[in-house]
Amino acid sequence: MEKLYTTLNKLFESNLNFNELLTRICETLKKEVEHYDWVGFYFKNGNKKELKLKAFAGLPTDHEIIPFGKGICGQVAESHQNFIVDNVHAQDNYIACNINVKSEIVIPLFYNEENIGQIDIDSNTLNAFTKADEELLTYVNKKVSNYIKAKNTYPIFN
Ligand code: SME
Repeated sequence: MEKLYTTLNKLFESNLNFNELLTRICETLKKEVEHYDWVGFYFKNGNKKELKLKAFAGLPTDHEIIPFGKGICGQVAESHQNFIVDNVHAQDNYIACNINVKSEIVIPLFYNEENIGQIDIDSNTLNAFTKADEELLTYVNKKVSNYIKAKNTYPIFN
């Protein structure tokens, strides 16, 4: 885990543009964490009550736009709380991206205390996520938020 934090810190320190940074984070997390099978960042789409996919690693998804309230992601857009789903098939309000997915974690991303997006991770393993994932992904989101502030890349979508 410590090595992963070091690798991620290096990404934040290198001179990547916002898109490259997010994509590299997704790729690194997917590669380095065995139970991460799809990793993506969604952000609020302008003034619309919907999320839009900004960067990802893994299979392409049909769900590039997710209305607030819909699916695990849409629920987090409204609750502003971390959401761990041990078994996606036990969820009524769930949007399936891929039949192999069994569990999911979504962590909101705050900018100036506003929930502006999230990191979403799918696993092909049941009960894959723990407190350690919450801590790691909260850390990543905080660093992304700091980057947005430092480089003035907000709003993400106009
Ligand atoms: N499963 C998510 C949709 C996004 S995909 O996992 C890429 C949801 O229920 O919101």
